[in-house]
Amino acid sequence: MSLRDAAAAVRENAHAPYSNFKVGAAIRSASGRVYVGCNVENVAYPEGTCAEAGAIAAMVAAGETQLTEVYVIADSPSPVPPCGGCRQKLAEFGAGATSVILATTDGAEQATTIAQLLPGAFGSDHMERS
Ligand code: THU
Repeated sequence: MSLRDAAAAVRENAHAPYSNFKVGAAIRSASGRVYVGCNVENVAYPEGTCAEAGAIAAMVAAGETQLTEVYVIADSPSPVPPCGGCRQKLAEFGAGATSVILATTDGAEQATTIAQLLPGAFGSDHMERS
């Protein structure tokens, strides 16, 4: 199954009764396996989690920590950009050059990278003197 198909399929399972905005994410890890996630909202709004966070959590729970490809899809007018927090989460497990495809359910796609999404990222090198 392609990353697009995996992301589109898991998007259907999103729990988004408050925003009515369903998001699906699929990531490929270093082993080649695909992990998926959808947004899971909560009546206590800040407790909701993004699709990307779910996919990353599934990968880490399976014992992997390196992602090599990302695909995010939503029913939005233009390819859906990951929120700031998810950009930092992607940077934790992917290289700057890692491909991130942002998509709409209509078929529009935008190709970008983790470095483009999070220029000047905070990293462990910034803690070297502590
Ligand atoms: N959302 C994601 O899951 N990923 C994104 O990249 C953008 C936003 C979710 C969070 C919330 O459940 C809904 O979309 C509206 O913000």
